[in-house]
Amino acid sequence: MQLFNWNDKLKTGMAEIDRQHQELIKRINAFIKACMEEPRNFAAMASTFDFLNAYVVEHFALEERLMLEHKYPRIDLHVQDHREMRYWVDKTSQSISRHEFPEKLVMEVNYRLVEWLQLHIRNRDRNMSKFFQEIAGKNKISSLLALIRGDQ
Ligand SMILES: [Fe+2]
Repeated sequence: MQLFNWNDKLKTGMAEIDRQHQELIKRINAFIKACMEEPRNFAAMASTFDFLNAYVVEHFALEERLMLEHKYPRIDLHVQDHREMRYWVDKTSQSISRHEFPEKLVMEVNYRLVEWLQLHIRNRDRNMSKFFQEIAGKNKISSLLALIRGDQ
């Protein structure tokens, strides 16, 4: 399995979103490393996956709240993507808790947590962030400007 490497093509231009993506990638890599342990350690897989699951929910909730609040025109496609990911995370969490990790799931982990997510960030998240940056500057929306600067 390959790890998720952060690179500049994943930058959205919103410091807070980028910070959360980097945290998400850290948790993904912790889970992938747990998956590679020999012999298979389901307890480590389950605990790293729980951390990942909680973070995915929290991070998607922030993006969805912002898209709704600022009437992002492409919200439907974006939320559909999130829903698909949450469904997969939930399904995978159940498999791990049953100590099931078939070969098919190993391949899905790399597709879903690395390839799919990279595409999501490079397309959906960057488009969304571009929209936020445009309206934040034009309308002087201080809450968005703070997220762009990364003020806590
Ligand atoms: Fe997103």
